[in-house]
Amino acid sequence: MKRFRCLAVWLGLVVLMGAVMALGQGYVGGHEYVVPETTSLKAVAEKFFETPDYWPAVMGATNRMHLLDPSFLLIENPDLPIEATSKLWIPPKDWADRFMWVCYFDSPAFPACLFGGGQLVVGSWWTAGGEAEGLAALFDIYKREQPDVVIVNATIAGGAGFVFRAVIKPRIIAGNPPDTFQLHAGLEVAGYEPEKYLRPLDELYAMEGWEEVFPKALLDLMRYKGHYWGVPVNIHRSNVLWYSKAIFEEYGLTPPATWEEFFELADFLKEKGIVPLVLSNAGGWEAAHLFEDILAGTCKAEKYRGLWTGEVPWTDGCVTEALEILKRILDYVNVDYPAHTWDTCLEYLAEGKGAMNIMGDWAMGWFMAKGVDVGWAPPPGTKGIFVALSDTFAFPIAAPNPANVPTWLAICGSKEGQIAFNIRKGSIPARIDITPEERAQFPPYLQSAMEDWTRDEIVPSVIHGAAAIEAWVTDFKDVIGMFLVTKDVEAAQAALVEAAEEALAAMAEK
Ligand code: GAL
Repeated sequence: MKRFRCLAVWLGLVVLMGAVMALGQGYVGGHEYVVPETTSLKAVAEKFFETPDYWPAVMGATNRMHLLDPSFLLIENPDLPIEATSKLWIPPKDWADRFMWVCYFDSPAFPACLFGGGQLVVGSWWTAGGEAEGLAALFDIYKREQPDVVIVNATIAGGAGFVFRAVIKPRIIAGNPPDTFQLHAGLEVAGYEPEKYLRPLDELYAMEGWEEVFPKALLDLMRYKGHYWGVPVNIHRSNVLWYSKAIFEEYGLTPPATWEEFFELADFLKEKGIVPLVLSNAGGWEAAHLFEDILAGTCKAEKYRGLWTGEVPWTDGCVTEALEILKRILDYVNVDYPAHTWDTCLEYLAEGKGAMNIMGDWAMGWFMAKGVDVGWAPPPGTKGIFVALSDTFAFPIAAPNPANVPTWLAICGSKEGQIAFNIRKGSIPARIDITPEERAQFPPYLQSAMEDWTRDEIVPSVIHGAAAIEAWVTDFKDVIGMFLVTKDVEAAQAALVEAAEEALAAMAEK
């Protein structure tokens, strides 16, 4: 009995400490204000924000604090006087600005947003090792900032988001979206008809000063029809060759710089009973991902870019060469690749049964989460080329809890959020104001990626939404899927030519 009482006291203390910590850190970073004499909400807003129009921000913040600590006033009717000695919460200016962006007087979010609580439904496809940890780190920051809100982690598994997008699009059109969802930077946004279904984020960009801290190339990629529709949380690299350090050390091998070196090495490994290159394609996109990296190497940066803008025809010899290489590679991969996803196939490397894998650097997140020591190098032919993509979060117009979204987006774009997230995710911050001390906190692979990002030629990933509209991405993926079976280089190239013509025509029409 005594033990239980002890436990109860202890638990009580923990809960109290939690509440105090939440308040101490200032869930909106503001401060308490005990009203000296009876006044009005508008007068308080005027006093702290130099405009009476900010009364919803004072009301919203105070009511949120009331949910955590009932000694704060619950303001039900903003027109009634605020009695002397009432305890209010004055949010900091940046929170108030973000709040007013969504919760202005005749906005659809009004008046529900004045009372706080509710959920934040976050849609993403981050379920694998590294992905889940990164997302959890963002949630931890959010919980500190908005402890009145319950986060709903609405993931739909399936790498690169092909399953996710198929599910989320009809929901958005039906007016039943999550509050915020994962969206690749680039032309992927076109598939969501953003002008109809998404909230433009230009004002938020201005409030947060993001045009000064994100690289210009990324800002250009983010702008579609003159607006920003997502907040970038990272930069990923699609072209990385991961190799088993144990196997490479055992046989004194070095990562191949050319495809000829690769095939020499592959013959050697095959003879030893080791899978030379581990492949997956259960998601239908992984082989096409490998192909985009081969293509970047055979075409090189300028021509590769031109393939997606229509400046370089898909009949080019560098496309033929890439298909020939992929065809040859298929003799050196695990036969069960159609059953593996990008993450499950990595077990081959972890168990010392496979020597190499070509995948984006989210694989590093997986290796870190599983404690597997691997080496990395650019895939053959891509030294000095960084095939890039970025994950962003968008804000649907019909978000069920709009008032809870600005804080989430602000965290995604913040330095604190980007450091906490990317260290675990295997990506690098999109922000350019990371100091050398902050950079030093990142694991070695990510530090090397940060360096490459500033000095390599940057080209967009197609499979991960940066280079092309979704219809083109799907055709590209399907052509390669078919090629794995037919191994018919000519037919595949003809299909790629056709896909390009159709997509470029569709893009020209818009
Ligand atoms: C990419 C996404 C990455 C990573 C990967 C595998 O499309 O940008 O963040 O999660 O898919 O799921």
